[in-house]
Amino acid sequence: MSRKNIFWIVLCVAALLAGTFGAATAGSEFTNEGNGRKGKYLYRKSCRSCHDGGSAAELSPNSQTQAQWQRTFAKYERLECAEEWKKLERDDLTDIYTYLYDHAYDSPQPATCE
Ligand code: HEC
Repeated sequence: MSRKNIFWIVLCVAALLAGTFGAATAGSEFTNEGNGRKGKYLYRKSCRSCHDGGSAAELSPNSQTQAQWQRTFAKYERLECAEEWKKLERDDLTDIYTYLYDHAYDSPQPATCE
């Protein structure tokens, strides 16, 4: 086998491993399969207390597009209020995600949270 072939085989194996690892981490992403009604309640209780334009920026489901909510939730550890998120169970965050995602700016039923 030539050196060049070995190089390509190593490269393919590396790409395969990277693909498997990528899929495994993607599995921890939030899905909108939670309970949106409960999510609305939880959002009002746990997020809206600050995000009503008072101590933090006004925030509603239609503040972001579905893709933006996806990114926000995938990287919530970077938010200033990450500590608040960590007080909630994963299931509760999934419910909140479902509520926000299903009523996002570009969803069939965009909504504000009044
Ligand atoms: C103790 C108050 C507080 C609570 C509770 C809180 N946040 Fe925040 N959040 C903030 C502050 C302060 C910021 C920084 C920027 C700002 O003022 O919006 C922020 C930033 C954000 C941002 C980024 C906004 C942007 O435009 O950059 C998002 C999204 C967000 N919070 C969502 C949430 C969600 C969802 C919850 C409930 C799970 C939550 N927050 C709970 C205070 C809070």
